[in-house]
Amino acid sequence: MSRIVDLRSDTVTRPGPDMRRAIAEAAVGDDVFGDDPTVNLLEERVASLFGTEAALFVPSGTMGNQLALAAITQPGDEVILDRQSHIFNHQVAAASVLSGVQLNPLDGDSGVITAEQIAPHIRPDNVHQPVSKVIAIENTHNRAGGRVFPLDEMRRIRRLADAQGMKVHLDGARLANAVVATGVSFVEYLSCADTTNMCFSKGLGAPVGSIVGGNSEVIRRARKKRKQFGGGMRQAGLLAAAALFALDHHLERLGEDHENATRLGDVIAGIDGLQLVFPVQTNIVIFELDERIGSVETFVDRLKQRGILASLSGRARVRMVTHLDVKSDDIDFVAETLARVASA
Ligand SMILES: Cc1ncc(COP(=O)(O)O)c(C=O)c1O
Repeated sequence: MSRIVDLRSDTVTRPGPDMRRAIAEAAVGDDVFGDDPTVNLLEERVASLFGTEAALFVPSGTMGNQLALAAITQPGDEVILDRQSHIFNHQVAAASVLSGVQLNPLDGDSGVITAEQIAPHIRPDNVHQPVSKVIAIENTHNRAGGRVFPLDEMRRIRRLADAQGMKVHLDGARLANAVVATGVSFVEYLSCADTTNMCFSKGLGAPVGSIVGGNSEVIRRARKKRKQFGGGMRQAGLLAAAALFALDHHLERLGEDHENATRLGDVIAGIDGLQLVFPVQTNIVIFELDERIGSVETFVDRLKQRGILASLSGRARVRMVTHLDVKSDDIDFVAETLARVASA
């Protein structure tokens, strides 16, 4: 079979034999009854990793974010967030549909909104206006090329939210990448947030699942909402076993994905007609093409014909994501092919 390097997303990984064995051997029970020992173990383990009172295993990152927002808002509240955030662009307006909240997007700088920028958008107590209830931040930031949200700015946002009686939600779908890239601990990041979602099905390489962290009352409400949204799972220990395996075996190795992405970014920066849009900090590489190279759709198509799968970021950018199933020599192959396709 000819070689395929799938760089469309870090969600494309497939469980290897050891993870499959862990899944097969998992002890299970009915998790809606609270009876699944493997889910319970995962939730305890992540609560301790995060330094939160509790955690809740959920089917997806979208559901994790939406449960967190549902647990900390009332219909009619407002959530302030970055205009390029996943919650604003890629969750099918779920916050409005499921929680009845309004999103107030601000123009961040490569995904980073600052406390100073947010402050004037916090609404006064006024009969005409929604209640500014939540500030949502994304770390790492998907559309900003895996950018790490600076810890200092997260701390300033935490202080602003406290002063204003607001909550902070952290979309940490790829928080593990931020932790490995910076050495900042989960606990330090989580100390800036009331609720957090982290995905196992991205760089951590599990097939399914995300986890929400927060205090016991927030997680109690999120658990009930999970049932209401249709996300109550039964013998979910099969999936939790994969998540536990991922924490044990795939966390530290995220550094390899970052090295591969950095190398890929360097290659792209050196190819005439391709421009990196964001400096590479973790596992996502986003670039643009000079007009003479043609449309991004055609470019991605030509790469596909040569065995390299990439995706689009917005309408005019190409996105490549490194992960567990991309090896260092795959990057050599991608580098050669990119240079050939760009000069064709
Ligand atoms: C930053 C961010 N948040 C949330 C999600 C949603 O995760 P899921 O696809 O599991 O719903 C994604 C998915 O790519 C993401 O990148």
